[in-house]
Amino acid sequence: MIKYIFILMIGIWMVVFSFGMRFAYGEEELVEKGKQLYTQKKCGLCHTVDGSGGKKGGDLSDEGSKRDAEWLTKYIRDPKSLMPEAKMPAFRGTDEELNALVAYLMSLKKAK
Ligand code: HEC
Repeated sequence: MIKYIFILMIGIWMVVFSFGMRFAYGEEELVEKGKQLYTQKKCGLCHTVDGSGGKKGGDLSDEGSKRDAEWLTKYIRDPKSLMPEAKMPAFRGTDEELNALVAYLMSLKKAK
């Protein structure tokens, strides 16, 4: 009897563990995709990350600690909705791309 409980517990642990891994991997992939989009969509023409890029839009190296995902999603889609004076052009692309970009920006945090 004890043996069966033991096997059952190992089984449950393996299922939970594999789901956890998949989740972590998915998030990492999204951040990687966002990083590529950041380059493709020319965000770097106006923004700096880790010392390289344009100056017009400011430094985004610590954006993950400064803003939350909801704010970033709204702002990038339509900057003027949150800052009437915004000079940044609204993002043109799919919701999926926007999601990846936000995941990437949220990953940008300076070690404190
Ligand atoms: C033409 C220049 C330009 C481009 C291209 C640009 N931005 Fe910006 N961005 C700005 C400026 C200028 C600001 C400062 C606020 C404003 O005027 O809108 C800004 C602000 C931001 C902010 C808010 C920073 C904060 O926390 O206050 C985020 C996030 C951001 N940009 C992300 C992006 C992303 C992602 C892209 C690429 C899809 C991008 N930007 C492309 C000019 C640009």
